[in-house]
Amino acid sequence: MGDPLVFAHRGSSYDLPEHTLAAYLRALDEGADGLECDVRLTRDGHLVCVHDRRLDRTSNGYGLVSARTLAELEALDFGSWHPGGVPADGDERLDESHTRLLTLERLLDAVLAAGRPVRLLVETKHPSRYGRDVERRLVTLLRRYGLADPKPDDPVRVTVMSFSPLAVRRIRDLAPALPTVLLLEVLPRWLRLGRLPFGTRIAGPGIGLIRARPQLVPALRAAGNQVYVWTVNEPDDLELVLDAGVDGVITDRPARALARLGR
Ligand code: G3P
Ligand code: CA
Repeated sequence: MGDPLVFAHRGSSYDLPEHTLAAYLRALDEGADGLECDVRLTRDGHLVCVHDRRLDRTSNGYGLVSARTLAELEALDFGSWHPGGVPADGDERLDESHTRLLTLERLLDAVLAAGRPVRLLVETKHPSRYGRDVERRLVTLLRRYGLADPKPDDPVRVTVMSFSPLAVRRIRDLAPALPTVLLLEVLPRWLRLGRLPFGTRIAGPGIGLIRARPQLVPALRAAGNQVYVWTVNEPDDLELVLDAGVDGVITDRPARALARLGR
């Protein structure tokens, strides 16, 4: 088995503000194989890269992302809450890639301009709680970019992830060729390791689950699935998942994981 793929979780989000273009470009510079991004819908139907339902933690705004238009969100500062989003003493002002809201379109443009193979993991949150239209709009956008029907040789390949089996089913219905990841915080009773739901062939357990049950990785793999584990930031956790034989490591610190792999 070869080395796992290294995915930058929300970009190089330990060093720079999560989900900013600067954090993603840093991850590509560091040599990450892929990028992870959460998407939400604005009030006027645009897909934006924001993790939380609310704006309060990662911007100078407040309230629900879904209650604001794209123009309103573009006026906010998504960087200054993080040490990597403010200039160090004596530095010039940071450019807007450190502070501006990132739309999924701008992220796709950046990935396609990278000039090298990049995997992109796009996560949608629960469809009935966080917007029923996310999957349809995501697939429509990916089709516009020619990314909804990936081929093995395509330089940019998108995979859609969710904790919600319903979201996974919607993606499979809308775009059967798009690979999907079922994310797992705990092991649901209904889950059969050999047969993930709706044709999904990649399991995405959290590191807490793997710490408790490292044997899950070989069991899932023996049943023909791949395993991508999140969020693997600490050296001990990295050793654990490498020993377990995972296919993908999702981390806030891609440079650290790549250095451990000698890359
Ligand atoms: O990569 C999967 C992971 O991102 C899921 O958890 O809360 O960081 O979106 P969360
Ligand atoms: Ca995520």
